[in-house]
Amino acid sequence: MYSELLIKNIKQEIEQLTVAGKIKTERLLASPQGPEVLINGRKVLMFASNNYLGLANHPALVAAVQETLPRYGYGLSSVRFICGTQTIHRQLEQRLAEFLGVDDAILYSSNYMANLGFFASIVNEPFGFGTYLDVIYSDELNHASIVDALKLVKRDNVLKRVYPHNDTVALEAMLEEDQAKELRHRIVATDGVFSMEGDTASLNELVRLANNYQACLFVDDAHGVGVLGSSGAGTPEALGLHGQVDVLSGTFGKALGGALGGYLAGRQEMIDFLRQKSRTYTFSNSLPPAMVMASLRVLDLLKAEPQLCSLVLAQAKYFKQRVQELGFKTLPGQHPIVPVVLGEAKLTQEMSRRLFEAGLYVVGLWFPVVPEGTARLRFQISAAHTREHLEQALKILESVGRELKVI
Ligand SMILES: Cc1ncc(COP(=O)(O)O)c(C=O)c1O
Repeated sequence: MYSELLIKNIKQEIEQLTVAGKIKTERLLASPQGPEVLINGRKVLMFASNNYLGLANHPALVAAVQETLPRYGYGLSSVRFICGTQTIHRQLEQRLAEFLGVDDAILYSSNYMANLGFFASIVNEPFGFGTYLDVIYSDELNHASIVDALKLVKRDNVLKRVYPHNDTVALEAMLEEDQAKELRHRIVATDGVFSMEGDTASLNELVRLANNYQACLFVDDAHGVGVLGSSGAGTPEALGLHGQVDVLSGTFGKALGGALGGYLAGRQEMIDFLRQKSRTYTFSNSLPPAMVMASLRVLDLLKAEPQLCSLVLAQAKYFKQRVQELGFKTLPGQHPIVPVVLGEAKLTQEMSRRLFEAGLYVVGLWFPVVPEGTARLRFQISAAHTREHLEQALKILESVGRELKVI
């Protein structure tokens, strides 16, 4: 039985969110994900999904799912270590490792779970030296799953330090400052591509710092994998660091098919350890076989058509340039995430509402999701967008921008 107090408090919280205009609405798609979707019986241009390669409704992946169901069934009714590991789970882990240029990989039900599973398993472990200090350095704009992962770190002798976004000078100062302490492990954690900005972590410098200070470098490449690098292996590959990042996390929920599933990848010893100690792996169900097989098919597709990555980057570059020519302000970065900065939260809310009415679905972001005064529209380009889709979106953006006197 609920207590009346709990229901009253919940109602109050919802009211406050409503008054503050912070209620998240869910628009109902009556179609697959794609460059155009059906919402309320109307076709709308989709510029808000992470469907970077346009694979979310790709015939090869739909076929992979259909072929897998009779062969491997729907679900496994088990976690991996009891009876939930099929041959294809290991195949996917090995193929992923090869793709990312590392020893091995371990699958999770999502990237969020992978991140939650990583830090606690490493840092909470006494390793027989409980009194020494561990330090985790985290970029201030890291994804919520890293922020939440750090909340699961419970051992007393752990210092969590947040460094200013991509500021490797500030990070080095922190690393230097901590040198005098009796240290055990150090972990530097960063997103590969920052999802609100579309910019890339300064990985070359981070690798150098990790080497100099004997730190483990953890990169969440959710928005990099399948997009950046000559083979789509992500931010490290794009920056000439393929295989040089200690631990990578990533998702199958964005460029790599768009459904579900995450992973950690790195050195054999690390992956072996995580298989034993990572609680979000050990105590959560195996990925459904159909998704595993579709993910294998994604890796085949990328191998056969690596130009998908350069296509989406070229589309994004073109789109960004045209947006700038219209007089809008964008942010630096070469990624299909193209933020258009408007500044004011109210204006951004109004603009995204009007754009949607005009048939363009793009997400608006404001404080506290992004720094105050930098509210923005976040356009996300897909390889499935044709030039016509881009032109239509630009036309709508220009017309609404003029109406609201943004340009
Ligand atoms: C950087 C980053 N990490 C992790 C995640 C979570 O991915 P998943 O949906 O696979 O849990 C996201 C998704 O938004 C993300 O942007």
